[in-house]
Amino acid sequence: IVGPPGAGKSALLNYLAMHWMAVHRPRLFIIEKGGSFSLLGQHFEAQGLKVVRITIKPGADVSLPPFADALKLLDQEDRTRLAIDQVPELDAGQDDEASERDLMAELEIAARLMITGGEEREEARLTRADRQTIREAILLAARCVRRLGGEQVLVEDVANALDAIGMDESRPIDLRDNARKNAAAMRLFTDGLAGRLFNRPGSAPWPDADVTILDVGVLAGEGYQAELAVAYIGLMNRICAMAEARQYEQRMSIVATDESHVITRNPLLAPYLVGVVKMARKLGLWAWFATQNMADFPDAAARILNALEWWLCLAMPPDEIEQLARFRTLTDEQKGMLLSVQKRPGLYTEGVLLSKAMAPALFRNVVPPLALAFAQTEKEEKAARRAVMLELGCSELEAAYEIARRMQAQVSSSGTGRASA
Ligand SMILES: Nc1ncnc2c1ncn2[C@@H]1O[C@H](COP(=O)(O)OP(=O)(O)OP(=O)(O)O)[C@@H](O)[C@H]1O
Ligand SMILES: [Mg+2]
Repeated sequence: IVGPPGAGKSALLNYLAMHWMAVHRPRLFIIEKGGSFSLLGQHFEAQGLKVVRITIKPGADVSLPPFADALKLLDQEDRTRLAIDQVPELDAGQDDEASERDLMAELEIAARLMITGGEEREEARLTRADRQTIREAILLAARCVRRLGGEQVLVEDVANALDAIGMDESRPIDLRDNARKNAAAMRLFTDGLAGRLFNRPGSAPWPDADVTILDVGVLAGEGYQAELAVAYIGLMNRICAMAEARQYEQRMSIVATDESHVITRNPLLAPYLVGVVKMARKLGLWAWFATQNMADFPDAAARILNALEWWLCLAMPPDEIEQLARFRTLTDEQKGMLLSVQKRPGLYTEGVLLSKAMAPALFRNVVPPLALAFAQTEKEEKAARRAVMLELGCSELEAAYEIARRMQAQVSSSGTGRASA
C-alpha cells in the first residue's frame, strides 16, 4: 500500500485487517509505530480474539536476539559456507522458487547492521575478507556456545569470537585490526537499551495469539536506525519461526508492516527481506507493507518491491508516481490513471490497483466508519475521542464506536457521500 502522508494507508490497513479476520481468520501480526492499531487490537479482543501487544520501550521485557538461530548452523555445517564468493548474494538474481533459506547470509547481514549500521561509507570499508571473517566469527561463536552448553548465541559471543580472530597471529595484520574494530562496534549492542533488546536470550516464545501487535516504539526515533533494522530482523525471524512451526496447519498467517519506509530505508534490510518474503510464502505467511515516500526506498529494495504481487496506490502526487516508476514499469495509461485519483475528506479516497494478475483498476476506497474511527491518530482526533470518553464516561474503545456511529449518522443525514459513493 503506497501513498503520501494522510492518504489513508493506516485506515485502509485497519479495514483490511478487519476483513482478513472476518473472512480468513489468519494469525495476524502487525508491525507499526505510534499506535495506529491499538484500538483495532482492543476491538478484536472485545470480539473474543486473543490479542498480544508488544511495545519496544526502555524497561520493557522484549528481547530479539539477532543470532538466536545461529546454533542451527552447526546442524547444517556441511551446507554452511564461509566463503562469500561461493555464496550467492541473497539478492543476486535468485529465481522466485529459491530453495533453502540461507541462514548464514542472514546472520551476516544482522552482524553487518551492527558493525556498519548499513551506512554506505561504512559498508564500502568492509572487504570480502572482512565479511568472511564475520561469518567465521558467527560460526566460531556458535561452536563455543554449544560446547559450553549455552542455548543461544548472543551478540557478545560473536564480538568475542571476532576479538579472538583479532588476536590470532597467524592472520594478516590488517584483517586482525579490522576484526577487533568490528568487535568493538558490535559491543555497542551489548549494553543499554540495545543490550536489553539484543544481547539477552530470547524470552519464552510469544504466547500463541490470534493477533500480535508489535510497536517499534522508541526505535522509530532519530538515531536508532541500525537498532530498528536489527530489531526488525529479530521480529521477522520470530514470526517466520512461528509460521514454520505451523506450516502444516490450514490457517494462514499475515504480517503487515505499517510505516515500512521507516524500516526499509536501511539498504541492508532489503536483501534480507527478499529472502524472508520468498521463504514466507512457502510457510503460508503473507507479507503486506504500507509505505509513504517511495523515494526512501534504496535501489537495493527493487527486488523486494518487484516480488510484491499487489500494489494499492493511494492518491499519489506526480513526483511519487515517478519514484514508483523506479521500481515498476508504468505505462502511460497507468500513469494517467494514477494521476486521476481523488480524495474527498471524510468520504473516500481513491487509488489504483496494480497487479500481475489483472489489468490496472481504479478503485474507490470507502472505508467503513469503524475502521476510520480506529485509525484516528491525529492530535485533534485523539482530543475528540478523549472528549467523548469524558462526555459518556466510557472506555476509549467505546468512544471509538461512538465516533463511528456519529460519522455514519452525519453522512446518512447529509444524503450525499458514502452511501452513494
Ligand atoms: N477512505 C477514506 N475515506 C475518508 N477518510 C479517510 C479515508 N482514509 C483515511 N481517511 C482519513 O484521512 C486521514 C489520514 O488517514 P491515515 O492516518 O490512514 O493516513 P496515512 O496514509 O496512514 O498517513 P501517514 O502516512 O501519516 O501515516 C484520517 O483522518 C482518516 O480518517
Ligand atoms: Mg499511517
